[in-house]
Amino acid sequence: MAQNEIQITRPDDLHLHVRTGDALKSVVPDTARQFARAIIMPNLETPVTSVEQAGKYRQEILDAVPEGIDFEPLMTLYLTDNTSVETIKAAKDSGFIHGLKLYPAGATTNSDAGVTDVRNVYDVLETMQLVDLPLLVHGEVTDPVVDVFDRERLFIKEILAPLIERLPKLRIVMEHITTSDAVDFVMSASDKIAATITAHHLLMNRNAIFTGGVRPHHYCLPILKREEHRQALVKAATSGNPKFFLGTDSAPHAQGAKESDCGCAGMYTAYNAMELYTEVFDLNNSLGKLEGFASTYGAAFYHLPQSTDSITLQRQDWKIPASLPLGQEKVIPLRAGESCHWTLTNK
Ligand code: NCD
Ligand code: ZN
Repeated sequence: MAQNEIQITRPDDLHLHVRTGDALKSVVPDTARQFARAIIMPNLETPVTSVEQAGKYRQEILDAVPEGIDFEPLMTLYLTDNTSVETIKAAKDSGFIHGLKLYPAGATTNSDAGVTDVRNVYDVLETMQLVDLPLLVHGEVTDPVVDVFDRERLFIKEILAPLIERLPKLRIVMEHITTSDAVDFVMSASDKIAATITAHHLLMNRNAIFTGGVRPHHYCLPILKREEHRQALVKAATSGNPKFFLGTDSAPHAQGAKESDCGCAGMYTAYNAMELYTEVFDLNNSLGKLEGFASTYGAAFYHLPQSTDSITLQRQDWKIPASLPLGQEKVIPLRAGESCHWTLTNK
């Protein structure tokens, strides 16, 4: 008989964008309702590059958490060509910064201040290895002659593999992996190397960008890939291998910024994240593997204690609103106007 209810340790979202200001106030409650903690991405318009900025940003997030909910933002710093060894040491000492994010310059939203060449930051990465602070990578090359669907595969070969060879003890999370190449690479690497997987890359292949016309709300980076890659991701996520864990990469953009002649990259999945992930695990007859992926492996990789709280999901359809408020604007959540087949009961 099909399982109609599942209770798991309160999960963690190990890759999340919450923006700032009024938009932040709109989206933080969606995550805080479901997750115990979230790794907060530092790609604000003014990137979060110092411990002081991260401390202020952390407080802004905490102030937006609804009363009566326990939610801990796990902060990161944005790695630039100018990040100093002193900043790494201060980040480690802060106790609230859990990693540094490497964006190849120009790879995605607000990445202009990113690293222009990894060789520029090798001394800083050596210090991170020494103090044991994780590096989180957006794994795509930015060379404009490289096809957008091949950027992750080439990043692994040209940048990640040599980096790991040079710094074998550095903990690295390859963020939002999208290809079987990334799955294979992470599986064959040491236990210092892990990866986050989004709900949208588990649920959709690249046809979803073009179903019946151009679908701007299905455009994100790294871009959706072929079905064979989606299947490899599902297999990895539901395998019970602790190297793969939950990171939504929920990335809210105002409706107008998406539905435009040059629409922004990013999908808003925070609103129904756990319902979407549960659907994937259910469809693949592996609900028993959900807790490890969502609540256990990420915390272990980041050396965090397990959450003592739990959440419950029931097999029950509910309709996702056509839009949600994002400050004074609107954001279109994934599955807008359609149904999710699992419901979080203790929202
Ligand atoms: C993210 C964003 O909008 O901040 N967009 C996305 O498509 N995932 C940036 C990122 O994680 O690449
Ligand atoms: Zn992201």
